[in-house]
Formats: sequence, C-alpha cells, structure tokens
Amino acid sequence: MDPAGLTALLAPDGWALLSALPPYDEKLAMVISERLRTEGIDPVLVAAALTQSRLRAKAHAKLGDFADGMLFTQAGLEQATRLEVGAHHARRYRDAGLTHVADLTCGIGADAMAFAGVGLRVTASDVDEMTAAIATVNLRHFPEAVVRHGDGLTLDLAGVDGLYADPARRTSRGARVFDPAAYAPPLDQVLALRSAVPALGLKLGPGIPHTALPDDAQAQWVSVDGDVVEVGLWFGPLAPEGPGRSALLLSGGQAHVVAPGPDGPAQVAVGPVGDYLYEPDGAVIRAGLVGDVAARVEGRLVDATIAYVTSDALHDDPAATAYRVLDTMPFGLKRLRAYLRERGVGRLTIKKRGTAVVPEQLRKQLDLRGDAAATVVLTRVAGHQQILVVEEV
Ligand SMILES: C[S@@+](CC[C@H](N)C(=O)[O-])C[C@H]1O[C@@H](n2cnc3c(N)ncnc32)[C@H](O)[C@@H]1O
Repeated sequence: MDPAGLTALLAPDGWALLSALPPYDEKLAMVISERLRTEGIDPVLVAAALTQSRLRAKAHAKLGDFADGMLFTQAGLEQATRLEVGAHHARRYRDAGLTHVADLTCGIGADAMAFAGVGLRVTASDVDEMTAAIATVNLRHFPEAVVRHGDGLTLDLAGVDGLYADPARRTSRGARVFDPAAYAPPLDQVLALRSAVPALGLKLGPGIPHTALPDDAQAQWVSVDGDVVEVGLWFGPLAPEGPGRSALLLSGGQAHVVAPGPDGPAQVAVGPVGDYLYEPDGAVIRAGLVGDVAARVEGRLVDATIAYVTSDALHDDPAATAYRVLDTMPFGLKRLRAYLRERGVGRLTIKKRGTAVVPEQLRKQLDLRGDAAATVVLTRVAGHQQILVVEEV
C-alpha cells in the first residue's frame, strides 16, 4: 500500500468503505473493484480497501477477530507475532512487575498490542514510515501506547523498564537472513541494550544455532500446533526460571512447558525399539530436550543422533506424538513392497528422520495397490537403516 492509499483509507468514507466490504473472496474481488469504480469511488481508495480486505482475511489465522479492525502490509503480516504467542510474551513483562515496555521493532504492532492488552504502557518504534503509521492505527484503542517512526536503537528510553525487539530477518526482497549480524537491527546491538535495561526480550528465528545465543538468556523455543515458530530470548527479570533452554508448546488453547531439571538437559541411553515410538515436538528438538521427553515417557533413543524416542510404556504426553510399533525390518525396497502388497496398502504415510530416502521417489518405486492405509517410519536404529511400521495412538 502506498501513502496515498493509506490516507484515503483513514478518511471517514474510506474507513467506512473498508468496513462495509463483504468477507474477502478472491473470485469476487475484480467484480467489486469494477463496481465501486463505476460508482465513482477513487480508484486509489478502492485498491487500498480491497488489499486490506484481503490481508485482513489472511491475518485471521494469526490474529483472530482482531484482524478485522487492523491494517497490514504484506511483509508486516508475514512477520507479525501470532496472538497467542504475543500474549505469552506480554505475560512475562507483566509477571515481572514491569510497567513500561519499549518495543524497538514493532512492525504492524501485533506484539505491541499484546503488551498494551495486558495493561502495560508501550512505546513502539519502526524504522519504516508506512509500517509505523499502520502500527499507530492498530494501537489506536490503547491510549497508553505511542508509536514513533525511527531507529529503535536510538529510542528515548526514559521511564522504560522493559525492552522488546523482534528484529527483521528478511532482506527488502523477502529473502531470509540467517546471520544474526545481518538482522535489522543486528543482534549484538540489541543485546548490548541489556546493560541499560536488564529486562530485555527478543524474538528470533527458531533455526538460530545455540552457539549464537548468550549464556545469560533463557532461550524458549515455541511451537503452535506442532509448528516451531520462534525462539524467545529472555533476560534478567523476564527469565525468573534463570538462564537455560526450554520449549513452550501451544495447542488447542493449552500451554505446556518442557524444561530441563536442575542438572540440565537429561542424557538418555540408546536402546532397542520397544512397543511405542515417540516423535517429540519440534520445539523440544530445537531446544535440545529430547532426552527430557524420553525420560518422561520412560524411553530411550533409537539412535544417538536421531530425535525419535522409543519406550515399552504408553504415555499421553503433549510433548510427543505416540505411535504403536507394529513391525520393524531392515531397510530394503523389495521387502517393504512385498510387505505392503500382502496387506493391500494403497495409502502410505512415510515419515523419515536420519535417512537420505526421498519419500516421493520411494512411493513411486513401491507402486502401491489396495485400499488399506499404513504409516512407515524410515530411520536409523543403532546406526542401521530401519523401517518401523507404526500406527498413531
Ligand atoms: C519482524 S518485524 C516485527 C513484527 C512485530 N513484532 C509484530 O508482531 O508485528 C521487524 C520490524 O523491524 C523493523 N526494523 C528494522 N530495523 C529497525 C530499526 N533499526 N529500528 C526500528 N525498527 C526496525 C522493520 O521495519 C520491521 O517492521
């Protein structure tokens, strides 16, 4: 959206037009656009309103009904924190007894709205003018929130007792940036601010190597319905659990934390495949806490380098998906094809970890026939390629 589009939308008739549009439907967008222009409505406004209508519809997945009163940029929406994750960020500040948070890189303001929503005063900034303007609109219901256009690193922090940053990890063309020194702003420059304000929180990409994380951080990987969405770094009073690693699993309105015991992440033995196979949540794997999940299900690893846990006991644990092991066999195309033919398997789910097999190639080679369904796990067991036939419990 360009500045003219934003100005048009913010005029009373522009906002009324956006609010009056029917639920977004790609197939009808052209027809509606033509009709509105024929009625004499400014084409700039029509284009801006339809773009916002489309982005609002998309934003529902992250922000629920709040999206209906918000404005977005495409990039701002893609980078915005989901409502339930933002709420967890905000709770850390509130529970630490902080009152005034500076969100240095607010984007369209999803995190800032969560902070304001728990009663915190918020000073937000974004270096991009259009994005800062949109955040101002999105925070309009919170009189205790202000948005500044500018570099968050030079924000006036007088009266601020908590800092938050979610640095941009994309180039202007949308390509992902992996080097923390190339984030905007760079990671080390944000980290340096904790000498001025110890209550610092950061949202980073979940793939960041553990070696890039400072020792004094509580690093918490977060998954939503099994998808790993971020790692949060929490410092000082924002990390009452102290420095270390943990996983926060959010699913179906429930939150579940996996954290190591006082002696650090659990080390577990490798052992033979038992009655059950457990696939730990991705946030647990990223946090390096597979051993802790293994301990919870009285399990062992199938291989020292593979994040599959096996156990003879069945546990209902939100940190891992449990499968019953029906059969195991060494990896071999002919053997697997014969096995599946005998059982009339036409629909096969292929899971893999620690093997170079390409599932779609394997599926073609298996030439499946029949109505039955099955799930196979291709993995390494004690260093050897193995097939486990499983069913989800
Ligand atoms: C990942 S987005 C933030 C998303 C936000 N947390 C949300 O939930 O909507 C990062 C933002 O940082 C902004 N940015 C990059 N460098 C900045 C800087 N030095 N100061 C302030 N903002 C900056 C970008 O323009 C971008 O909008």
